[in-house]
Amino acid sequence: MMKILYDGKEQVSVIPVLEGKLASEFSKLAGSKLFTGKAGECYYCHNCNHIFLGLGTNGDDDDLRLAGATLAKNVKKLQISSISFHFGEDQNAEALLPLLVEGIYYGCYDFNKYKSEKDNFAFDLIVKENDPKISAKLAEITELMDGVKFAKDLVNTPSNDLYPESYVEILKNEFKDLAVTISVLNEAEMKKLHMDAALAVGQGSDRKPYFVEIKYQPNQKSDEFLTLVGKGLTYDSGGYAIKPATGMVDMKTDMGGSASVFAALKVIASNKLKQNVCAVSAIVENMINGSAYKNGDIISSMKGLSIFVGNTDAEGRVTMADSLYYAATKVNSKAIIELSTLTGACIVALGDDIAGCVATNDKLFDQIKKASLPAGENIHRFPTTKKLEDSIKHNVADITNIPNRGKAGSITAGLFLTHFVENKPYAHIDIAGPAYIDEYRHHTFGATGFGVKTLYYLAKNFKL
Ligand code: BES
Ligand code: ZN
Ligand code: ZN
Repeated sequence: MMKILYDGKEQVSVIPVLEGKLASEFSKLAGSKLFTGKAGECYYCHNCNHIFLGLGTNGDDDDLRLAGATLAKNVKKLQISSISFHFGEDQNAEALLPLLVEGIYYGCYDFNKYKSEKDNFAFDLIVKENDPKISAKLAEITELMDGVKFAKDLVNTPSNDLYPESYVEILKNEFKDLAVTISVLNEAEMKKLHMDAALAVGQGSDRKPYFVEIKYQPNQKSDEFLTLVGKGLTYDSGGYAIKPATGMVDMKTDMGGSASVFAALKVIASNKLKQNVCAVSAIVENMINGSAYKNGDIISSMKGLSIFVGNTDAEGRVTMADSLYYAATKVNSKAIIELSTLTGACIVALGDDIAGCVATNDKLFDQIKKASLPAGENIHRFPTTKKLEDSIKHNVADITNIPNRGKAGSITAGLFLTHFVENKPYAHIDIAGPAYIDEYRHHTFGATGFGVKTLYYLAKNFKL
């Protein structure tokens, strides 16, 4: 844990050093020949009681996040109670501090709920820069990273503790002090709305399904919303198309899309953005029992389109069909942005560092792309073709959930979803890769909260 203070004396001073000529001067000062100023280098000098922190060469955002995260880990290792940055005259504190602080929050993240021995180490960051612009920016980043932590905690929590009912309770509790309206539909209410597709996916589980809508409406004069939709599978066993143990073991993360959209909404409301934003998700479990939906079933949907279930493991698009149709018809949505851990094919195509996007509207995608830059989140737009669109058709049902024999699996999954948004400007973002990763740069192992920051910056500047 790190707390920002604007007054006080630090225990240790942190000297940020750019890689290059000057770094060798600092390394002499620090008494370490090895210090070069590379991003992620962190050297504590006992004699001068300074930490020398490498920033890399050109103030690259991710280098600064890495520097912040490494600093946090070292401060913990050394059990330092308070630090302060001492920027050089040629360094721009206003540009550097927010990213370093963001990195510190990443480096502080520790999911220790399930450990008997808990490390509750905390330290203070004393900010000497007396500038309201800087303190406002740091307050914004603090809320933003609090949202990222909320999403990460949700995704990291195993499905024996995070299931539809408990998830709903967590959401109610988390939003209770914010200016939002939460509506929760239970199974009977979902039935009344004919959410047959989402219900079919959930019917193989002993855990009851729920549908959650959270609205933040600062502009009461308008009932138009930027609507966020998230995949909320608290567990995906694959159903009767059962996953092998190795593929199933991480499927507690299959609600990552919903975690990111709800967490983004929390930050949007906490930071009092002007934009009306709504977040929705059908929260269900894909399990196996005597009532579970089966490979080969033909089911209905809220829209009334019939869906051929070629594979019960392609349950995301089936569930999202109803969430998206709800977003398009029950909410006055100006645009719909949806995040899902939808396909393994997206990981094959782009790895775990890049999300894949299928967008129906160029302007909307441009805005998402723009918002993803300060967020440091990579989003790549896939191409679509008429041939791929046609591959979703089925000979007996209206559409199939396994088109094209797996070819272009990430694109066809996105195209399937476009059938349910009623021509609203729409972007589908597949976060199967980046939602949950091994430790890398500023990220600790596990959930990343991918999407929270992009959605926040998007809502902040949204105009369509
Ligand atoms: N939840 C998975 C996708 C996934 C895979 C997320 C790996 C995160 C990591 C999704 O429901 C799924 O199983 N998709 C199938 C679709 C296929 C059967 C058409 C897949 O990608 O294999
Ligand atoms: Zn699946
Ligand atoms: Zn899934």
